[in-house]
Amino acid sequence: MNISDRQSMHGQWSSRWTFILAATGAAVGLGNIWKFPYLTGQNGGSAFVLMYIICVAALGIPLMMAEILLGRRGRSTPIRSMKVLAEENNVGQWWQIIGWSGTIAGMLILSYYSVIGGWTLAYIFKSIAGTFSGATGEFAANTFNTFVGNSSSLFIWHTVFMVITMGIVAGGVQGGLEKAVQFLMPTLFFLLLLMVGYSMTTGFFGKGLEFLFTPDFSKISGASMLSAMGQAFFSLSLGMGTIMIYGSYVPKDTSIASTSVMIAIADTGVALLAGMAIFPIVFANNLEPGSGPGLIFQTLPVAFGSMTGGTIFGSLFFILLLVAAWTSSISLIEPFVTWLIETLGVSRLTAALYSGMATWLLGLGTVWSFNLWAELKFFGLTFFDLLDFITSNLMLPLGGILIALFAGWLMSAESTKAELQISNPTLYTTWQVLVRYIAPVAVFIVLLNAIGLL
Ligand code: PFF
Repeated sequence: MNISDRQSMHGQWSSRWTFILAATGAAVGLGNIWKFPYLTGQNGGSAFVLMYIICVAALGIPLMMAEILLGRRGRSTPIRSMKVLAEENNVGQWWQIIGWSGTIAGMLILSYYSVIGGWTLAYIFKSIAGTFSGATGEFAANTFNTFVGNSSSLFIWHTVFMVITMGIVAGGVQGGLEKAVQFLMPTLFFLLLLMVGYSMTTGFFGKGLEFLFTPDFSKISGASMLSAMGQAFFSLSLGMGTIMIYGSYVPKDTSIASTSVMIAIADTGVALLAGMAIFPIVFANNLEPGSGPGLIFQTLPVAFGSMTGGTIFGSLFFILLLVAAWTSSISLIEPFVTWLIETLGVSRLTAALYSGMATWLLGLGTVWSFNLWAELKFFGLTFFDLLDFITSNLMLPLGGILIALFAGWLMSAESTKAELQISNPTLYTTWQVLVRYIAPVAVFIVLLNAIGLL
């Protein structure tokens, strides 16, 4: 079959915009609003933000282009696409490891993502019930600590989140995804803007901006660099096949370069807005920026509690955050689901059921890591922190290196040129240099540096 006529058996986006929206939906999620602020807080602020932005621009965008390119060329699940592409380029079948590692990473990430999605669900109900009206920083922190300390309630919310997610997944790509993202993502963006507006009234907006944007280079360490790089991969959903599989549904005439830039800008914009909304509240209420995964759940309720219409506003915010979490969750499990369909020949429903159950089960480790297993440490990390470290900081960057190497070295320049359709030769060469040399070397150095070998 002619390559350009290859089609994915799982469908095709109806237009370039649907792809942009769906990919942005996959990229924008808890990573931007929940994880980015707490990592920034834990890593001392501005220097982390700077490293993060550099990673997005220099590694994220070129790698996203490479990943979409592989997906569109392979037109199948990451594992299958890599098999087809390895054959096409006469290289070893072991390159399928990109697909395998990504499929596994997606499932591992979803196992804990679902737990945090469950927190979001619970916070919708807390907001609706008016729990936060007049909340002080101390009250919000206590509410959060009591909540995560209760293993049964985390268990229930994790289960509910997972059931609903897999229900949407069973509905198929076009039906479930396309409709949800089209108007909800812009609304979330708008609400974040309003939150930033609120933060301007706290009297600590300047302090928040300074914390985020005045680089303090003394705060840079091997560990914080790795964390910034891992977060860039996590937030852009790179290195694990999600973007590859979304790329496999992309119509032939879509420009991969400009699409990637747009997705990266939207994703980074949301993360920065979240930071600008949250840190002024942190400082105004004497909260601890480095308090960890609970940061947004301890700060935003204080804001909702003191603003007019805060109950409605807070409920709406957590509802939209939930939708953003869902669109990401769906993309996290999509490689696994489509692989089950292709390999076992089962229906989408059965595939969703199997993958959902396995992921849910693993998620219990994260549920307990906040209560029953809180003291249980592996290499000094809780189960949740360990899982997050292995996936975000190791699997995604390593997957990214392999994708870069494959697209940069093993695919012929004709085929990458044909897929990328970049008419400007300088731009094409820049991309090639970035994926061939800069990205693999940079990721490697950051990894070695973080484990103390450099
Ligand atoms: N990018 C998502 C977020 O920032 O919340 C998380 C994610 C989704 C990571 C899909 C990886 C992925 F493949």
